[in-house]
Amino acid sequence: MTQPIRTPIRLGLIGCGGIAFWAHLRSLRTLPRFQLTLAADPDPAARQRAATLTRARLVSNPDEILHNPDIDALLIAAPSQLHASLALQAVHHRKPFFLEKPLAASAEEGLHTLQSIRTAGITTRLGFNRRYHPVHRLARQLLRAGTIGPVRSVQTAFCEAAAGEALPTWKRKRSTAGGVLLDLGSHHFDLLCWFLDAPIESVHACITSTHSEQDSADVHVTFAGGITAQSHFSFLSGPFDHLEFHGELGSLRVDRHHPHPIVRLRRRTRYGLSDASPTLSPSILQHRLLHLIRPGHDPSYRRALDGFADALLGVPDEGADATDGWASLAAVLAAERSAESGQRIPVLLS
Ligand SMILES: NC(=O)c1ccc[n+]([C@@H]2O[C@H](COP(=O)([O-])OP(=O)(O)OC[C@H]3O[C@@H](n4cnc5c(N)ncnc54)[C@H](O)[C@@H]3O)[C@@H](O)[C@H]2O)c1
Repeated sequence: MTQPIRTPIRLGLIGCGGIAFWAHLRSLRTLPRFQLTLAADPDPAARQRAATLTRARLVSNPDEILHNPDIDALLIAAPSQLHASLALQAVHHRKPFFLEKPLAASAEEGLHTLQSIRTAGITTRLGFNRRYHPVHRLARQLLRAGTIGPVRSVQTAFCEAAAGEALPTWKRKRSTAGGVLLDLGSHHFDLLCWFLDAPIESVHACITSTHSEQDSADVHVTFAGGITAQSHFSFLSGPFDHLEFHGELGSLRVDRHHPHPIVRLRRRTRYGLSDASPTLSPSILQHRLLHLIRPGHDPSYRRALDGFADALLGVPDEGADATDGWASLAAVLAAERSAESGQRIPVLLS
């Protein structure tokens, strides 16, 4: 852990593209513990767009942020192929950071980044914001309370129809850290481990490239303890983002595009299932209301950044750290090896 720091935390943003504009810059306007001080992007159009949402000084070169002693912490939202090198520079300058997923794009980079973060003791959170979504929080509580009994299997899908021009060029090729596994699969691998409290043991995968490299993937996942999951990721359909857990007593479906989890339990006396209404927390009720007004509303980005502020201030939080980032990346890399070889591949964690 780095030393706790004072609020407002002077933040430097590296990368002002899609996710920074649609999520992070808007979230930061409502998070008083952060003061966005500097933001960097080599693209003048991205800087111009960011300037509509922040009064922070906008620069072209991230070095201005990394070398600046007045910056307390970093938010890294640059393309995924730059994550490892930017994270290593952050470690070198002893700046704690929130790094968008994935941790890195290869095993060598991922392990080196993880070891450097561990050795330096730098506070790091990964952009697995779905952990902070109220529907996911409630679903996890219900699973832990044994609502559907012991979980035996899970089916998941995460698809964002973004073929062609809608997809940034770098996301269309694996050599520039694109493809559905790093982009979408990494989220579900993290969520599954977080929901099930179990590491991934092995994967078997099939990857297809229809309009761009790796634009769909199907992965069969086995967890320590024997639970299995089947996941579908795609840039060709959607938007879908759901997980359905099958337990001994019933099923629980959690869908990011639906305002609350759906629980179905085995009937006690007759054959079949009946709906069970989970008790809804104030946070879920607020989310339901906002979902009615703005169906695309996703509070998890803001909450994940707020969790980073907690972590920096020494308050316990539930965010994903670099070890979680490596676990997700290791599953992605094993899935890629499986698709190449046709074999089930063990996921080796350090
Ligand atoms: N957590 C999520 O749900 C989520 C969603 C979307 C994207 N992401 C992640 O966020 C990252 C960015 O994705 P995006 O969709 O915003 O991509 P994008 O291509 O829209 O934006 C990336 C921006 O980084 C800029 N950039 C390039 N090199 C840079 C450098 N050296 N320093 C600073 N900025 C640089 C680019 O000019 C661009 O404006 C990716 O790693 C992606 O995986 C996460």
